[in-house]
Amino acid sequence: MTRDADIGMAHSVDPEGFAHVVFDTPGQSVNLLSPDVLQTLDRLLQEWGSREAVRAVLFRSAKPGMFIAGMDVEVIGAIHDAFRAVEGARFGQAVFQRIADFPKPTMCAIRGTCLGGGTELALACAFRLASDHPQVRIGLPEVQLGIIPGFGGTQRLPPLVGLAPALDMILTGRAVDARKAKRLGLVDEVVPEAYLEREALSRLGSAADGAWRPARGKRFSVAELAYRVAPARRYALSVARKKTAERVRPADYPAPFRALEAIDAAFALPLSQGLDLEARIVGELVPTSTSKNLIWLFKSQTALKKSAGGMQAPPRRVRRAAVIGAGVMGGGISQLLADAGIPVRLKDVRYEALLDALRTASGLWKKKVDRRSISRAEAHHRMAFIAPTLGTTGLLHADLVIEAVVEDLDVKRRVLAEVEAHSGERTVFASNTSALPISDIAAKAMRPERVVGLHFFNPVHRMALVEIVAGRRSSPESLATAHDLAIKLGKTPVIVRDSPGFLVNRILMPYLDEALVLLGEGVRIEAVDRAMSAFGLPMGPFALLDQIGLDTAQHVAGVLSSAFGKRGGEATPTLSDMVAARRLGAKSDRGFYGYRNGRRGKPDGEVYRLLGEPEPRELPPETIQERMVLAMINEAAACLEDGVVREPREVDIAMVLGTGFPPFRGGVLRYADATGIPIVADRLSRLADAHGSRFRPAGLLQEMVRGQRRFYG
Ligand code: NAI
Repeated sequence: MTRDADIGMAHSVDPEGFAHVVFDTPGQSVNLLSPDVLQTLDRLLQEWGSREAVRAVLFRSAKPGMFIAGMDVEVIGAIHDAFRAVEGARFGQAVFQRIADFPKPTMCAIRGTCLGGGTELALACAFRLASDHPQVRIGLPEVQLGIIPGFGGTQRLPPLVGLAPALDMILTGRAVDARKAKRLGLVDEVVPEAYLEREALSRLGSAADGAWRPARGKRFSVAELAYRVAPARRYALSVARKKTAERVRPADYPAPFRALEAIDAAFALPLSQGLDLEARIVGELVPTSTSKNLIWLFKSQTALKKSAGGMQAPPRRVRRAAVIGAGVMGGGISQLLADAGIPVRLKDVRYEALLDALRTASGLWKKKVDRRSISRAEAHHRMAFIAPTLGTTGLLHADLVIEAVVEDLDVKRRVLAEVEAHSGERTVFASNTSALPISDIAAKAMRPERVVGLHFFNPVHRMALVEIVAGRRSSPESLATAHDLAIKLGKTPVIVRDSPGFLVNRILMPYLDEALVLLGEGVRIEAVDRAMSAFGLPMGPFALLDQIGLDTAQHVAGVLSSAFGKRGGEATPTLSDMVAARRLGAKSDRGFYGYRNGRRGKPDGEVYRLLGEPEPRELPPETIQERMVLAMINEAAACLEDGVVREPREVDIAMVLGTGFPPFRGGVLRYADATGIPIVADRLSRLADAHGSRFRPAGLLQEMVRGQRRFYG
């Protein structure tokens, strides 16, 4: 085997005449394509094509659970002009076309993650075999990075699997498992993992002798056959465009909309012209700020998940866990633990809370069964990992106990004392508090070094962020254990200092507060919400307040305003009025909006009456956005200044994952950089003069203006 060790690819021709290409990117858990790999492939294919001794080519991976994760994003991120991007795409297309035109059989053996360029390589092969390894995921996730597949994916996938499945895969970036890939005709066969290479070589040998052709029995539906005709296809594409536009706007996320053009070309044009269009679209998308921001977020999130977070001690493995409090959060956390195969004791003082939590968990697994991502038996198996209790049994063997009881310091301290009395010496106690200082909760603990914060976001199964809070006396091992568990649960952990509101709530609150101030000035609920949705947030601040619960928001605002004065607590009286009127948001069926069966209706006119009928006032959306977003930027800068986190990227990842700050803008601080720090500081000063000291620019911003610095680079 000749090993091009540096580029992560080995190759050989065995005595039977099989050429092997084995991917194994050094120093990485994934295999990546790079210009070097592509160039080497190009050279090898030219050489092998004319070499008689070569009967067939097999592409495979040396890493378990992995085929190829795609093109190295560093390479794409570093391209800033359309010309180079088109050139790069054309070269990749040419190499894969060489595979497609190869005069002898080609096959790839997929034994795990197969994404982006990996899938495009597979599509260019004559045959595709997948193993039954649970990590087999085949997909084209390029739109998630603001681009489209550029090595022929948009041209080869649709005719192979049909228009509808191709649209689903390319427009959402969703990957499919081996079973689904077989059903779609994306792979020819699925074979046991242990025999993958042997089965692949045996089929390749027969194929080379002309004795084997896979049974490509995919029968397209009538609709799929109709899509081959332009009018029917155009109609299907227009429906897909409309559905995509309900999720994202073309101005913010152009990639899925441009992908539709390329997919149409896959049926309407000859392959060479389709490939040409694909490369040109890639050229237009690669240099956009959307793509640059999405790639940056992807890289930063991967780095945060990978790094041990500067942990000073090795983690303890969490084999068993317990969750105290089976409410919204505790229920969600126990489902997440069980889903990851960790047995969890779930304790509450109310029987109904336990029942509700089990019902909700079961509903989440049912959805997975309906989506066919797990079997019914697997769902039952995972459900059995949750053991509900009203007592204290089961705590003794828990490596980690997560507390998610009501947000009340005394109750939390009592729960901690009870856990300490019934658990082991080394059990880590993690609080899910939203705003109470961990050091206060641990003040009377027997083992304060075992107490940390592990702050999940609502809904737990969907929100990718977890804040890990280091109390004054939390031990490195306890922190490392919480950090490691968060990663094992599939979350992105950000380590934050033990301070009021931690990171996300502290930055979010001044933003929500500003919405309430605007409301007091007579700006309508829907005008504010519409402006912020237009900025790219998943929902406006009033819809969000209703979802958080106004009593909870009032509590957090109280904690923050006693720590930071007016910043974040200017409009607390409005919240108090709402809470006093039992308008708690979605959970009480009334807040800023009315609700029916949990569904949000129209803004509730009663709210204006409750607030003393402020004179209605119209503001341009840009003015609303500026006030709201600058409030966030200012607090984010203050958080960095106070050392709540160490780096700007932690702020940006946390705000994108924890609040849905528009990913295409790259995060609060990247947005500030793009706006220009002197402009940000100047506008804040003007707002401070017009609306109050809460807008006074944070010291760090002023310093950055003087030093002509940016948050990044
Ligand atoms: P919740 O009110 O839905 O649930 C709390 C549960 O704790 C109730 O079922 C209650 O019966 C139980 N409980 C009370 N005292 C107990 C005790 N001594 N022993 C065992 N169980 C007890 O509250 P939620 O929303 O789940 O919040 C829990 C914690 O998570 C709070 O600290 C909250 O600040 C925090 N949090 C809440 C978020 C949210 O969006 N709801 C988001 C992130 C954190």
